[in-house]
Amino acid sequence: MSTPSLDEARLEQFLGQMVGDMSAAVGAVMTRVGERTGLYKAMAGGEWLSSDGLAERAGCAPRYVREWLSSQAAAGYVDYDPAEDRFRMPAEHAAALADEDGVFYMLGAFDLLTSLWADEDRFVDAFRSGDGIGWHEHDKRLFSGTERFFRPGYQMHLTAEWIPALDGVESKLKEGATVADVGCGHGASAIIMAEAYPNSTFVGYDYHGESIARARQLAGEAGVGDRCVFEVASAQDFAGTGFDLICNFDCLHDMGDPVGAARHAASALVPDGTYMIVEPMAGDSLADNLNPVGRMFYSASSVVCTANALSQEPRTALGAQAGEPALRGVLEEAGFTRIRRAAETPFNMVLEARV
Ligand SMILES: C[S@@+](CC[C@H](N)C(=O)[O-])C[C@H]1O[C@@H](n2cnc3c(N)ncnc32)[C@H](O)[C@@H]1O
Repeated sequence: MSTPSLDEARLEQFLGQMVGDMSAAVGAVMTRVGERTGLYKAMAGGEWLSSDGLAERAGCAPRYVREWLSSQAAAGYVDYDPAEDRFRMPAEHAAALADEDGVFYMLGAFDLLTSLWADEDRFVDAFRSGDGIGWHEHDKRLFSGTERFFRPGYQMHLTAEWIPALDGVESKLKEGATVADVGCGHGASAIIMAEAYPNSTFVGYDYHGESIARARQLAGEAGVGDRCVFEVASAQDFAGTGFDLICNFDCLHDMGDPVGAARHAASALVPDGTYMIVEPMAGDSLADNLNPVGRMFYSASSVVCTANALSQEPRTALGAQAGEPALRGVLEEAGFTRIRRAAETPFNMVLEARV
């Protein structure tokens, strides 16, 4: 085998990129440790702390905390004062790392990442065999991580921007409407809507029984369990009808029969009812998605979304970066005629469709 001549500058640049990737990957383990030990929360007040002071406050072993804090300073997650040998977390970082109920909290994503590492062997097998991997077959942290990662975005945008962007829907929800949240997972979106619109009733459907059990528990804890119920059912054949609004939050592209799901939604809507499809933000083509968000979505899609779609007939796998033209194609094939992009954020696009 002949050795190709290497462009040294290009090689160096790429090796530098790989070092950055390795650093981020091992740093993600430290982020999980910081969350689970309470170290981030113990720093949330923003004051300067010695590593021993932080260890005492968080109830952790000082030598471990010293090393962990050094990694956090190298990551730029915390500030370091070399003169006094002390550390502090800026308020902006605390919003992402320590405020678990806040809209900027990011650590749910790391819960999800943990599940991907745990299932690595299974992914390798699937790449070889071509078999699908159902949502229910993953390490459980995929389910909790998805809920915890997506919920802050729904809290920030769903009732403040997305519902008001739909034609005539907000007033119906305020008066009293019937809503289905299909592919609801742990039900975060249904519960947020139930809290915001007390005259309306909500049904969440998901084929994954464990997720539905958790959704019921969370609705009860939120005090909306009487108006926000959850059923185990697939998007292609759930039993309810007469819905004013049917929603899919980040799940239509996960389904092996997205046209069947959209067609069933069309049949379960009242005349002139609204179908709201929230999907990951994507450009119209692969070339438009070659950026860090695209990398994240394509990677998770390879082993979660595409894998789930391949586990369901007829194995149509849109992928998490399907883009608006492909999604429109699905909706049109299912019989929807009035389709528009109603809203968008850096992570999501919101499509509105009517028959
Ligand atoms: C990425 S998760 C999104 C969950 C939830 N909508 C959210 O935003 O947090 C995708 C969900 O789609 C569900 N799902 C996949 N295929 C389905 C199908 N054919 N029918 C119903 N639910 C399905 C999975 O069980 C999973 O809960």
